[in-house]
Amino acid sequence: MPIMGGYFTRIAASKLFIIALLLLILESCETEAAMIKLKAKLVGRARVAGRGFSMRANSEHHCLALCNKRPDQCDAVNFYVPSGKCRFLQRCTPIRVVLNSTDFYFYSKRPQIVSEGYTFETESGSCLKVITNQTDFATADQLCANDNGRLATLNTPALNQLATALLRASGAQYAWFGLRDVGKEGNPTHSDGSAVSDRGWFRPAPQQWRNDSNKNCWAIQDDGQWAEFSCKGRLLYSICEVPPF
Ligand SMILES: *[C@@H]1O[C@H](CO)[C@@H](O)[C@H](O)[C@H]1NC(C)=O
Ligand SMILES: *[C@@H]1O[C@H](CO)[C@@H](O)[C@H](O)[C@H]1NC(C)=O
Ligand SMILES: *[C@@H]1O[C@H](CO)[C@@H](O)[C@H](O)[C@H]1NC(C)=O
Repeated sequence: MPIMGGYFTRIAASKLFIIALLLLILESCETEAAMIKLKAKLVGRARVAGRGFSMRANSEHHCLALCNKRPDQCDAVNFYVPSGKCRFLQRCTPIRVVLNSTDFYFYSKRPQIVSEGYTFETESGSCLKVITNQTDFATADQLCANDNGRLATLNTPALNQLATALLRASGAQYAWFGLRDVGKEGNPTHSDGSAVSDRGWFRPAPQQWRNDSNKNCWAIQDDGQWAEFSCKGRLLYSICEVPPF
């Protein structure tokens, strides 16, 4: 009996060990995936201002590692070399350079957000916002560029859903996003350079899916469908995106 008991205990223990190992592997994969997706790069040697909080760190690399452990609270870091102060800057909120100085390291996971009102989308790691100026497509494109971003590439259901929710909250029916007919009619190109047909995910409003060479710019509708308009013929809100690096 004692021998049997020991045998079963050993089996049970080894099973537990394997389960613990699997959980550990799963967890480290998850963390790694998040970190791979949003990798910070050295943007500059400057002191920056923005919403966030501070801790101590041994070096700029340590500061960045601490940031990577709290991805939902930290999108950028500002490390002050003389005192070891490590400032975490909030995701999708504005950051402003206040002083160029080699005493500081400024790392960020995306181009600097420069205006209020951006919302995070988890799957893509992008920040999205509705710009409420009513403009033609080219001006919308410029407004997003002024915000260090681009007209949004809505190439996943999650991005399209968030864009739809933000548009509804704005009260408008349509907003330009990053899609236009560049070469071929009927296969428009996203602002990230991919073609709609590459993804196999396309949601035109049925009545507005037109092979009309006068309509080459795309807007999202408040029900999440896409509609095609003349690029200068409509003055609409726009959906801007600041994607991760
Ligand atoms: C810091 O340097 C950048 C690039 O040289 C410059 O564009 C910016 O105006 C400077 N900012 C400040 C606050 O001095
Ligand atoms: C967009 O709207 C804001 C706020 O009304 C205004 O300050 C800005 O000048 C407008 N920009 C353009 C390009 O129309
Ligand atoms: C538009 O063109 C595509 C490709 O030539 C064709 O398959 C489609 O049926 C056309 N749609 C309409 C509404 O004419």
